[in-house]
Amino acid sequence: MKMRAAVLEEFGKPLVIQDVDLAPPKSGEVLVRLKACGVCHTDLYSASGADPSGYLPTVLGHEGAGIVEEVGADVSLVKKGDRVVTLFSPECGRCAHCKSGKTNICTAIRAQQGKGYLPDGTARLSRDGEPMRHFMGTSTFAEYTVMPEIALAKVRADAPLQGACLFACGLSTGLGAALYKAEVEAGSTCAVFGAGMVGLGAVVGCRLRDAGRIIIVDPSEGRRAQAKRHGATEEVVGGPDAVDRILEMTDGQGADYTFEATGLVSVMGQAVEAARVGWGLCTVLGVAGKGEKLEIIPRFLITGRRVQGGSFGGVRGRTNVPQLIDLWMEGKIDVDDFLSHRLKLDEVNRGFELMEAQDGIRSVIEL
Ligand SMILES: NC(=O)c1ccc[n+]([C@@H]2O[C@H](COP(=O)([O-])OP(=O)(O)OC[C@H]3O[C@@H](n4cnc5c(N)ncnc54)[C@H](O)[C@@H]3O)[C@@H](O)[C@H]2O)c1
Ligand SMILES: [Zn+2]
Ligand SMILES: [Zn+2]
Repeated sequence: MKMRAAVLEEFGKPLVIQDVDLAPPKSGEVLVRLKACGVCHTDLYSASGADPSGYLPTVLGHEGAGIVEEVGADVSLVKKGDRVVTLFSPECGRCAHCKSGKTNICTAIRAQQGKGYLPDGTARLSRDGEPMRHFMGTSTFAEYTVMPEIALAKVRADAPLQGACLFACGLSTGLGAALYKAEVEAGSTCAVFGAGMVGLGAVVGCRLRDAGRIIIVDPSEGRRAQAKRHGATEEVVGGPDAVDRILEMTDGQGADYTFEATGLVSVMGQAVEAARVGWGLCTVLGVAGKGEKLEIIPRFLITGRRVQGGSFGGVRGRTNVPQLIDLWMEGKIDVDDFLSHRLKLDEVNRGFELMEAQDGIRSVIEL
């Protein structure tokens, strides 16, 4: 079939909206009619050419939500008409990692996905007979996508897809970091560095775990105010003295849990230093630039602070995304406040511009 899609033709250049071909789903695969897709930093990062593992030509996009249109042979997890959220991080339930219960990093399709192919090593996307690559296994800046069934989270039928798509990446990453990765304890003190989609998700996650105090750290006054609407109890202006401020606010001890959601290695270092002596747990979520390193003074570790990271915030996509969406539908997460701009597919490059200008939390493409 022919469909409209936003194609990355050349690194550092705007995406080109055009017709591409999409082959039907093979065994274990599903055709999804996309309804909404968020614009995330990872799309821009890949489009810029900064990602060393980037490839061309490809249809970008990974924060997708839509409706199952057709299933290939041997598909049992979803059926035609189901509402789904796309998962760049699949959950096969069978690989050693999935079975371990210790990680959300499923290895079932990793090798081929990393190269831009579906699990059998081929592409369903093509143009003039030439295969194209599938970005992050999702390629959701398009009217349709074909994905493995293990990379689709089936969500409830009453979940609006414009909001559901945010659970495909940024929002779930922040929520999961607090709920599943750090498992924040009730009554504890948390500090969240960065109040973009990921950091705001972490603030909400800390609130849902009944944290006693949630300190939001961000240079932007507007974003700190937004974090307060979602549960932050105190604020610190992001910058070089953020750690000192947090220590002052915690009798010199630091926070029980810190979260980094900026992608800046200097801020990752601050998040480590702002974690409490003895047991403070720092969860790093930001994606740093190519070749950048995080420096930690070993004394911070010897004295009991711990550091962890989390891809997709430790969220097991097929299991946890439907649960997170339930929390939203129960009124516990104000997703509408994160939907800053609604764009058409033709306006996808505008979505990148808005993100670079830090205008709004998320732009969502409506399909
Ligand atoms: N781990 C994952 O799986 C995963 C998933 C999605 C995104 N990410 C990454 O998470 C990071 C955050 O993503 P986002 O969409 O929320 O980004 P964003 O740009 O919307 O938000 C970043 C925030 O950091 C703030 N900031 C800048 N300097 C700061 C400082 N010195 N101290 C505190 N805050 C500061 C900015 O004002 C902004 O509000 C990015 O690096 C992104 O690539 C990771
Ligand atoms: Zn697996
Ligand atoms: Zn993303």
